[in-house]
Parts: sequence; C-alpha cells; structure tokens
Amino acid sequence: MRIYDIIMKKRDGYALNREEIEFFVNGFTKGDIPDYQISALLMAIYFSGMNEEETLNLTMAMANSGDRLDLSEIKGTKVDKHSTGGVGDKTSLVLGPMVAALGVPVAKMSGRGLGHTGGTIDKLESIPGFSTVLPEQKFIDNVNKYKIALVGQTANLAPADKKLYALRDVTATVDNLSLIASSIMSKKLASGADAIVLDVKTGSGAFMKQEKDAIDLAREMVKIGNGAGKNTVAIVSDMNEPLGNSVGNALEVKEAIDTLNGNGPADLLELSLVLGAHMLIAADVTDDLETGINMLKQTIDDGRAINKMREFIEAQGGDGEVVNNTGLLPKASIIMDIIAEESGFVESINTQEIGMVSLTLGGGRETKDSQIDLSVGIVLKKKVGDRVEKGDAVATIYANDIEKLKAAKDRFERAYEFSKTPVKKQPLVKWIISKNGAKKY
Ligand code: URA
Repeated sequence: MRIYDIIMKKRDGYALNREEIEFFVNGFTKGDIPDYQISALLMAIYFSGMNEEETLNLTMAMANSGDRLDLSEIKGTKVDKHSTGGVGDKTSLVLGPMVAALGVPVAKMSGRGLGHTGGTIDKLESIPGFSTVLPEQKFIDNVNKYKIALVGQTANLAPADKKLYALRDVTATVDNLSLIASSIMSKKLASGADAIVLDVKTGSGAFMKQEKDAIDLAREMVKIGNGAGKNTVAIVSDMNEPLGNSVGNALEVKEAIDTLNGNGPADLLELSLVLGAHMLIAADVTDDLETGINMLKQTIDDGRAINKMREFIEAQGGDGEVVNNTGLLPKASIIMDIIAEESGFVESINTQEIGMVSLTLGGGRETKDSQIDLSVGIVLKKKVGDRVEKGDAVATIYANDIEKLKAAKDRFERAYEFSKTPVKKQPLVKWIISKNGAKKY
C-alpha cells in the first residue's frame, strides 16, 4: 500500500477502506509518513468529505493508536460526559457530584482550556492541594470507593489524534465535520466509558456558530458512538452567552460550589440537570428525563451533592473545607465593576470575546504551554434579555495586573450590545439527539 495512492483516491472523491485508513493513521503516528503527505490527505478529506463508514473507521484507528483505558474493574455503568467547549461551562463540576451521589460511577478524563474556552482540569487546580494526576489504579480505586474521580488526559491517549490535530491546526483543515467528530470521539472511546453524553455547543462562544452545524456534528458523533457499541446521546445547547455568570478558573469553581449548595444560577443548574439526567438514563437508573432531573435536584436539596463534592476533593488531596468557605480559593488583587453608561436591555453578548476577556486577564492559554492565573476572570451581572439601568454594574472584573485589566475592560465593552426595547432570550437546551433521531427539547 502506498500513501500516494491513498491521497489520490481521496482527492478524486472515492471512499477509503478500513485498511487504507489504518495504514495512514498508523504510519503517521509512528513517523513513517511525513507531514506533507498527511497535510495533502487532510485537505483532500476536507474537500471530498468522508462517509459514515470512513468516519467510524478513522475514529477507531485513532482510538486504537495508543493506550485504551480499561475501566472494567469499576462496578456499574461508567458514563462519560463531554462538552465541545464553551465559556463559563462548569457543568462537569456540578453534575459529577450529583450523579455520583446517586451511585453512578463518574470516571472522567478532562482537558485543559485552550484559546477562549476553559477546561475542567485548570478549574479543579484552583482548589488548594487538589491533584489532577492520579496513578491509573488509584483513579479506578477512587471511583469504586467514592463513585467519582476526575483527572487530566494521559499523554498517550489517542496519540494519532494529537498529531493529526496539530497538523489540521496549521493547514486550515480543522473545521470539517468528519475530522472534528472522529477527533473528539477517538478520545472518548479510548477513555473506556460504557456510555457517552455529549454537550454540543452552538452560538457565538462555540466552535459551531450555526445551530444546523451543531446538529450535524451531534448526529455524526452519536452515530460514531453507537456504531462503536457505546450508548451515546447528544444535547445541543446554546452558547450565545456564557453559561452561568462566572468565567475564570477559581470563580467558576466557586459558582459550581454555590450551585451544589443550592445557590447557583438557573441556566447552569438547568443544563447540569438535563445532562446529568441523561447520564442516569444511560446508566439505567431511570428511563424518564423528568424523574432523573428530580432525583438530581434532590441531591442538592438534601446535601448529598455538596457532601460528595467534599469527599471527591479530599480524595484527590484537596482542601474539602472549600465547599463551606470559597474564600479559600485563589483571590485576585484588583476587583472592578463595569458600569452601564445608558439604560436599556442586553441584546447580545459576543461570548467568544468574553472568553478572550478572561484570557487577556491571564486566565486562559495563548499556547498549550502558557502558565495561567487561576484567580482572575469576570462575573457577569447582566445577561441577554436583562434590563440595565444607567449606573448599574454590568459585570465585575477580577484582575492582578492593571494593564491587563484595561485591555480586558476594552474587550468586554465591545462584547456587549444593548437595545432600547425588550429582548427575547433563546432556550438553553435546544435539541436531544439519540440513535433514534433529533428531538426538539
Ligand atoms: N475538539 C477536538 O478534540 N477535536 C477537534 O477536532 C475539535 C474540537
């Protein structure tokens, strides 16, 4: 088999068979096929697309290119949850303890933030003492004992995806549906869960700006997951404004803790409940969404969820007292309100820009090796549809550097649009996509 012939076949619009896909994935991972030939192949895939079978074969080849986590020692149905990336999205920190409190094992590998999107691992590292690195056996033991463990991704999980993604990033071939879906799902399949709940974001802060593209991506990933024998369901949710009010690592942990204590923002709670209830359904705890939502709510009302959060934090070396005293989290030295100069209604929020405000303050990564400041960020006081009076605080910025604060403030002011007339808010949960098709929520 020759890579030249594979490139030509795809260039001419033909489907690649499994052997051809495995040949280029394995050859590239081992370093036998040079970047320039894989770049040409990626561009051919970009223009010619891949059918369902090719996309599944690509996903499996990438999932099999490195370690695959064996979670068989963990009792019960392991359900993973994955978000395609958003701003202010701390749902894993809310639904993880709720779902675990109901006895469903949460064995989760999460990523770090990159660009304008945040990552669960960075957020957790703002808890004093918390370790996001556990030896594999300890990870498994913790899930068996506490029903929850959350760690960073190991280096050798789907290494083919890592190499291909780096090349896609510099060859303008990232935004192809088959390539995105196979990239995400290869990592999910390699992380060993029995079932997968996906949160596909759409809107100004999401990868998929258009709802139709998010639905297509969700359908593709659901097909791959079920095709690989994992019960997979996707929710398409709105990312036209940050989720919750806080953006920034320690600030988001505080908001997750407030939510588990019953004092969180309604949108964060709603999405956490819907995603968590789908995890319960996938684990056969219930077959009814409403029942699942009520079971999860109950864990907040009776304190089981916050107690689970404490247990989880302590099991990974963190200071569990943070659940009673969020003042133990890292604190920024400069706190400044942004004041409305006119009255009106919030018409829209450029959510990617709000993510960039946090990055500008030092809370996000410009490159994957950047050091981040866990204490900085922004707390929104007004969201889409809210009435704003002249002189109201629209948001509060948390910073440690006056120059960065100025740059962040300028950026923030460009992100908000106001209207003189009332504005209708979009629904947060838009679609539920399962192997039976797409259903409006
Ligand atoms: N996230 C991934 O992991 N891969 C992509 O291709 C896009 C987003």
